[in-house]
Amino acid sequence: MSGIVAYTGSSEAAEILIEGLSRLEYRGYDSVGIAVLGPSGKIVRKRCSDKSRRLRDLLQDGVPPGNTAIGHTRWATHGRPSNENAHPHTSCDGKIAVVHNGIIENYRDLKEDLIEKGHKFTSETDTEVIAHLMEDMLKKTSDLREALALTKKKLVGSYAIALISADHPGEIVAAIKNSPLIIGISDEGNFIVSDLPAILPYTKKVIFLEDGDTAHLTPDKLKIYEESGSKIERKIETISWSPLLAEKQGYKHFMLKEIFEQQRAVQETLMGRLQVEKGQVVFENFKPDPEKIKNIKRIVLIGCGTAYHACLVGKFLIEDFIKIPCEADIASEFRYRKPLINKETFVIAISQSGETADTLAALREAAALGAYTGAICNVIDSSLAREADEIIYTHAGPEISIASTKVFTSQLTALYLLMLRLGNITGSIKPEEAIKISEELIRLPLKIKQILDSQQDRIEEISKKHFKQKNFLFLGRNINYPIALEGALKLKETSYIHAEGSPAGELKHGPIALVDSELPVVIISTEGCVYDKVASTIEEVLTREGRVILLATQGDERVLQFTEDIIWIPPTLELFTPLLNVVPLQLLSYHIARLLGCDIDQPRNLTKAVTVE
Ligand code: AGP
Repeated sequence: MSGIVAYTGSSEAAEILIEGLSRLEYRGYDSVGIAVLGPSGKIVRKRCSDKSRRLRDLLQDGVPPGNTAIGHTRWATHGRPSNENAHPHTSCDGKIAVVHNGIIENYRDLKEDLIEKGHKFTSETDTEVIAHLMEDMLKKTSDLREALALTKKKLVGSYAIALISADHPGEIVAAIKNSPLIIGISDEGNFIVSDLPAILPYTKKVIFLEDGDTAHLTPDKLKIYEESGSKIERKIETISWSPLLAEKQGYKHFMLKEIFEQQRAVQETLMGRLQVEKGQVVFENFKPDPEKIKNIKRIVLIGCGTAYHACLVGKFLIEDFIKIPCEADIASEFRYRKPLINKETFVIAISQSGETADTLAALREAAALGAYTGAICNVIDSSLAREADEIIYTHAGPEISIASTKVFTSQLTALYLLMLRLGNITGSIKPEEAIKISEELIRLPLKIKQILDSQQDRIEEISKKHFKQKNFLFLGRNINYPIALEGALKLKETSYIHAEGSPAGELKHGPIALVDSELPVVIISTEGCVYDKVASTIEEVLTREGRVILLATQGDERVLQFTEDIIWIPPTLELFTPLLNVVPLQLLSYHIARLLGCDIDQPRNLTKAVTVE
């Protein structure tokens, strides 16, 4: 996902941009660039498409002076990664510079028209049309924001745009449609960024722009206009994230730091919501009319990748404890399969970023069909959070590593809370059972810590034994089948090893053909209703000489006969085993990727939020 940082104020803008952009590197990018409006009245651009070079290298031949600038990390969609395609893009006269996230769908038509009018293009991007359109509009009006409003009318697609003009010193204008931008306000100047970590070191006072807004910033003033063109006051919010949350704090990688942050992330997701002694849950935002909940006939959970795996766990929880039919669906499938949805369906989208294009489109499709909608999201005020009828935030803090870890366990925590809340309302979970569940739920953060403290050396040893293998198989059954899928996804993403996750019962229907004396087979065999069934699966793998790695319940001596590669998980209620079991699998992926020397926090071809289809 591309990232935007723009600044106008009293400090040297290039330095601020480089710092801000480096905090967006985690989103994945293939090129980077800045444009600074200097004291000479000229815009100086620096761009680079060599990701292996550090951002600061952009400035190796001198920092362009100036107090107003825009910057961008690009994740290519239109036009290959190259210096020419890197943002910012400029108009023919070099007086307008623009950065853009999203896609301008009608850029080909616009480009043809502009070329006919004599404009010269220097990139293959859709973004460049914005700079040329602005050049034309500024011949009709000298007001920079008005020119952007006129340009917007020509654009079809999704965008977050920030731009500067050599004829408008100190000004930045911005506009959004289906792509977020946040204004940061400080005594040293004003910011426009696509993601909070970019401004965390400078300010905690922010405004989240709303869809259709345009904004006009100078060092000490800001004005916001809604879609209709009328000026509007948007609420200034104070964010609580500490800048430290977006730093490595001594860990070698963000992924490792985030794995170890899970105790806190789960704790904070529970905090203030779970009333253990009553077995009740109260959410800040999700306070539905009980009658509405009682009328729900079906629940559909939608998400992509890791978030989809959370949906799969949610299906088990809702059907088992709430007794309402529940489906888990991949958002990119849901949106095109003409789902049967009506006002008695509660459709809940799960997403870390809240900006995943497929998940957003699926939620919109559900809303259009009349569904009651909800979202479980980590990013405050993200598009998904704003559009859903109900929002439950995971309080995991910013997740920097592309491979999701602490947000996944926080999503499961939010699902446990949601399950309890629905159970409280519908009466499907009896008070004494709700208390028992709550008492164990509150213990999970400590159990995560126990796993990390006691098993990290063992997991590292197991990683050393198997990291050279080309394939891995992950098996789990019932509520832990989604965790087998998640274990495989994590390994693929971080280490590029081919890994397959499968329900254990499906082994004999195909995947067993893969088993030989080389294949590491990770089997989740913690205690639960399918324990004996999984034990048979372990035998089947061992008979074919597969190299079994087990996840087993601490103290379960029966598994010692199978293998020496056992990772011990503290005992818990069966419904909570997915949350604990996933933790060592994340660490296993991390260590294997580290031993292979992979780019752990930014794996190749991946981006933190897939905002395009
Ligand atoms: C997780 O490790 C992945 N990077 C990916 O599968 C991710 O979960 C998926 O793209 C969904 O993202 P979201 O949660 O931001 O919607």
